[in-house]
Amino acid sequence: MAEVYFQGLNYSLANEDTWVEYKLAPENAKSYFAVCGSGSRVIPLLAKNPQELHIVDLSEAQLKLFRLRLEAIKKLTYEEYLYFLGYDNHSSKESRADLFSRLTLSEDDQQYWKHFEKDWLPSGLIYLGRWERHFMMLGRLFQRLTFSNLLPLFATHSFQEQQAIREKYWKEKLFILYTRIVMNEWVANKLLYKGHFAGATDKKTMKMSAADYVSSEFNDLFKNTWVKSNYFLQLIFLNKVTFKEAFPAECDEALFDKIKHGTTKIFFHQKNLLELLKERPHDFYSLSDTFSYMSDSEVANFLSSLPEEIPHKTLMVIRTFMRKPSFQVVSPWSEQIERNKQLAKEDCTRMYEFSVLEKT
Ligand SMILES: C[S@@+](CC[C@H](N)C(=O)[O-])C[C@H]1O[C@@H](n2cnc3c(N)ncnc32)[C@H](O)[C@@H]1O
Repeated sequence: MAEVYFQGLNYSLANEDTWVEYKLAPENAKSYFAVCGSGSRVIPLLAKNPQELHIVDLSEAQLKLFRLRLEAIKKLTYEEYLYFLGYDNHSSKESRADLFSRLTLSEDDQQYWKHFEKDWLPSGLIYLGRWERHFMMLGRLFQRLTFSNLLPLFATHSFQEQQAIREKYWKEKLFILYTRIVMNEWVANKLLYKGHFAGATDKKTMKMSAADYVSSEFNDLFKNTWVKSNYFLQLIFLNKVTFKEAFPAECDEALFDKIKHGTTKIFFHQKNLLELLKERPHDFYSLSDTFSYMSDSEVANFLSSLPEEIPHKTLMVIRTFMRKPSFQVVSPWSEQIERNKQLAKEDCTRMYEFSVLEKT
């Protein structure tokens, strides 16, 4: 497991499209289990108001970011919240520092955010994570090296308009070349994942190289989807989630209102999720992209160590990136391969294979 990498603040925006989990999460649940990551991947689930949410991460900084997001929802207006996080740089009358002073946080959390406020006061929290910064840098480099300006493509009013100008602005072959030279396994492994990149040749289970996987999915997104509605592509190629059409699930106003008035009791756990899973039953599991970083032996029999009381029809959503360690899907658990494939296409980042396990 990559404990060395999973420290500090790696994720701040979410490189997972949480609408997938949101749609699968049941109403009237007793308890959800979710891996924190950026926190943004968990926040939308609270709109379903489960009685309890158990949130886990190896990194305390990620848990702090979830608490900050939630407290911002509870204390700020919708417009202030969008501004505070960094989605909107205009709409608030108060500065981020003033908004922060209205939040009630533990002494420890408050000091943590104050300590590096110079990094998030100017543009908000969503651009803080090491992962986000790395991909923003790769996006800037792409624009510089290839003299590309993708803004006109992102600014179109419809998919049809995008289709009409796509070839002028998006050069498929140039991007393939760029991923092979720059956005490749070596750069990801060395500069970002410090030797723990799941797409590295000695770890991946996918046949394709990281560069070919990324270029083929991105080329498909630019060809077949409306990029104005894609926050992930905007983060990389515009260095900013520029258009409100692209805002991820945590920016949905109806969800925001429900979460503000929600009553879910939240439990924080800084530990290995494989240990925590054994402790008590839940009726929805959102395990994020964590298995990619685990060995076959760690996960081989994890289903058989889960509590028996987990209710029937419970779903467990597992994402993997380029490496899926083998685990046995044993009765009473099962999975639908077709549904897994469909969800992978629905996720606007296109970076994951899904395994949605269901207790039958
Ligand atoms: C690869 S990241 C995915 C983050 C996510 N894509 C997002 O958008 O926020 C997985 C998150 O799970 C945490 N993590 C990884 N392995 C874990 C484990 N075994 N137990 C608990 N947390 C873990 C990491 O610290 C990280 O925040």
